[in-house]
Amino acid sequence: MYCNKILSVFIVYFSLNLSHGQKDIKFFRNDYIYLEATESFYKINSLTKNFFDAKRACSLEGASLWYPENKEEAEAVISYWNSTQPTWWSVTLGMSDLIVKGLFETIDGKRVSDVYHNWNLGEPNNSGNIEDCVVIVSTGKMIDISCNIMNPFICKKTLQSLEWNQQCNMPDLDYKYNEKTEKCYKIHPVPLNWTEAYNVCSSEQSHLPVANDWVVINTLVKLFETAPKEWNAGSYLRGMYHLGIHNRFNDGWQTVKGTPFNNSLALWGTRLNEGSYDQCGAMFYTGRLTQVDCSLKSFFICEHDRVDLTSHTKNEENLPI
Ligand SMILES: *[C@@H]1O[C@H](CO)[C@@H](O)[C@H](O)[C@H]1NC(C)=O
Ligand SMILES: *[C@@H]1O[C@H](CO)[C@@H](O)[C@H](O)[C@H]1NC(C)=O
Ligand SMILES: *[C@@H]1O[C@H](CO)[C@@H](O)[C@H](O)[C@H]1NC(C)=O
Ligand SMILES: *[C@@H]1O[C@H](CO)[C@@H](O)[C@H](O)[C@H]1NC(C)=O
Repeated sequence: MYCNKILSVFIVYFSLNLSHGQKDIKFFRNDYIYLEATESFYKINSLTKNFFDAKRACSLEGASLWYPENKEEAEAVISYWNSTQPTWWSVTLGMSDLIVKGLFETIDGKRVSDVYHNWNLGEPNNSGNIEDCVVIVSTGKMIDISCNIMNPFICKKTLQSLEWNQQCNMPDLDYKYNEKTEKCYKIHPVPLNWTEAYNVCSSEQSHLPVANDWVVINTLVKLFETAPKEWNAGSYLRGMYHLGIHNRFNDGWQTVKGTPFNNSLALWGTRLNEGSYDQCGAMFYTGRLTQVDCSLKSFFICEHDRVDLTSHTKNEENLPI
């Protein structure tokens, strides 16, 4: 009884300690920097996107499209952006009036009047009746614009919301460790085309699986057994999953890691000719490989290589013990 109590106190202490581990390191992803002033991670995206694509890009990385909570955060982030991207005029914010015209809300459902709302004089003015999105300019003023305008954007992740998948050594808790391959896998239940699937895995710091040996192939076959096979929201390639092999450069089959694919015939199911449009790899549930048209949708699995924590820790003084 008494012993149990001590044990549970110990377990609580221990797990608190573990969950605090990652927060102490203050590491989310290599491509995000940590600002102490706001206790959050940010990524400055110089590849411009419209509001919808920017919002999605942040979300795929486990973060969200940035908006300032308050004046302090606006200043801290703009000051960082000023020092790294001095030529930028504005960035798209994670707010819009797309749900109810005229009611500007953040993407997590707060009224903009309850967060930072330093509108430029005369804004928002819904010019041309098409301005449902918002940018902030480097002076800290906000202006409404069309959601289709391509702009730089910033993704944000709060330290508070950071969780860590210890086994897979990554923030995404949906990845499951596999002992046979010593890699982690996440099953994606919505079919996408090969290029989109590639992008999703890449955003999750993973890649489509490279099935060039039997251990991986057998592992994938096992995963397929538990994975979804039916989808009723459009057409998709039945009975197979995307693989991380392709001939997109038209110079021979290669893996998504840029290495030549060992084109050992034994692994192929249906093999089409080289000149075909089918330049992407897929795998039947049985483990046989095939070539498919890259624009066709299929279910997919992302594979994550565990990386040594210390090798992707930026703040050297905060190395994990
Ligand atoms: C950022 O740069 C703009 C334009 O040079 C300047 O007006 C603004 O005060 C700067 N903001 C911060 C927080 O450094
Ligand atoms: C709305 O504001 C923009 C600046 O963002 C300005 O160019 C435009 O003339 C204004 N339109 C109206 C109808 O006031
Ligand atoms: C390719 O795979 C086959 C069959 O598994 C193996 O015998 C061969 O050595 C491999 N070739 C290379 C270059 O790895
Ligand atoms: C895959 O889907 C995306 C988004 O729908 C589309 O932009 C892209 O062109 C498609 N890729 C191919 C190879 O068809």
